Amino acid sequence: MKRYRIAVIEGDGIGREVVPEGLRVLEAAGRKFGIEFAWTHFDWSCETYAKTGRMMPEDGLDQLRGFDSIYLGAVGYPGVPDHVSLWGLLIPIRRTFQQYVNLRPARLLEGVETPLKKHRAGDIDFCIVRENNEGEYSEVGGRMYRGTDAEVAIQETIFTGKGCDRVIRFAFELAQKRRRHVTSATKSNGIVFTMPFWDERFAKIARQFPDCRIDQYHIDILAAHFVAHPEWFDVVVGSNLFGDILSDLGAAVVGSIGLAPSANLNPEREYPSMFEPVHGSAPDIAGKGIANPVAQIWSGAMMLDHLGEPEAALAVERAFCSVLAGKGPRTPDLGGNATTQEAAEAIAAEVTSE
Ligand code: NAI
Ligand code: MG
Repeated sequence: MKRYRIAVIEGDGIGREVVPEGLRVLEAAGRKFGIEFAWTHFDWSCETYAKTGRMMPEDGLDQLRGFDSIYLGAVGYPGVPDHVSLWGLLIPIRRTFQQYVNLRPARLLEGVETPLKKHRAGDIDFCIVRENNEGEYSEVGGRMYRGTDAEVAIQETIFTGKGCDRVIRFAFELAQKRRRHVTSATKSNGIVFTMPFWDERFAKIARQFPDCRIDQYHIDILAAHFVAHPEWFDVVVGSNLFGDILSDLGAAVVGSIGLAPSANLNPEREYPSMFEPVHGSAPDIAGKGIANPVAQIWSGAMMLDHLGEPEAALAVERAFCSVLAGKGPRTPDLGGNATTQEAAEAIAAEVTSE
């Protein structure tokens, strides 16, 4: 029996509702495929911040270091500024553990309606590879003359050669396992130092992958193409900010943000990787038990795959696909009236019965 030690952080809002359902489905897959999980729960959240003044304890990262993976819901809640919750937990985890790839699939599933009328399941299937450690989300900058008419705020964007190369290379290696097409998100017309640098690194890495087709678009028209021609894309690689924006757009294009999974990967496996949905804590629906659990469950499938359990990962994927394609319960974001738990129970049952 293989045993994995997983750190579980439910976080805030619907994170507390979808994570237990994700665990339910992972347990079902574990029973079927002879995998044992040792879950260790950490109650790190905005509530913890309100009590202790910190999102996680001072030695929080050391506590996480020894785990095989981290399974996260979402953090952020009204009352705590979003930059505090993000920089107090999520971003330090991504950076300290060198999870420099944020892999975010967008696939139109059978039984799910897209707002783009002419597309069907199978037409839209791309992955966003978001740089996850540097770029626009930097700690370099500051504010001066606070509270006066002369107040200024400056934030620098940090692109390093190493940081660009490694995430772009990951995108090409992923494309080699898919349809061998990589699209780069740029804005080198307007952002004249960092973006031409990104383009140069992209061109350099692309030369090492002559079997892959390449494209490059400025982020503004790329956003338009995501809506007008989503079938054009296979692997899309972008900086931290561009990748973040494109992944919510990708989720909308395939029917719901409640379906969008993500993996924060340290490809070298020197540190634990982290698996979480693209969505946040959704305070507008938190506590109602109606959040779609599929993004969290799909993130769990990505975790299984990363742990070296591709069969179990595929079983979980097949299970939510078949529940969505059939008459299975679906949450309100997909036009149904099922609760989070009902939707997840149907998926767990499907894993068991497959
Ligand atoms: P959000 O993703 O939480 O919600 C956006 C919209 O999508 C809301 O209308 C919400 O109801 C809906 N939605 C999200 N997940 C859903 C699901 N599973 N099922 C059905 N509907 C769903 O983004 P928002 O509102 O910008 O942020 C809310 C909080 O979450 C903020 O504090 C923000 O900082 C935090 N956040 C945290 C993230 C993380 O931990 N990785 C990522 C994004 C936001
Ligand atoms: Mg985001």
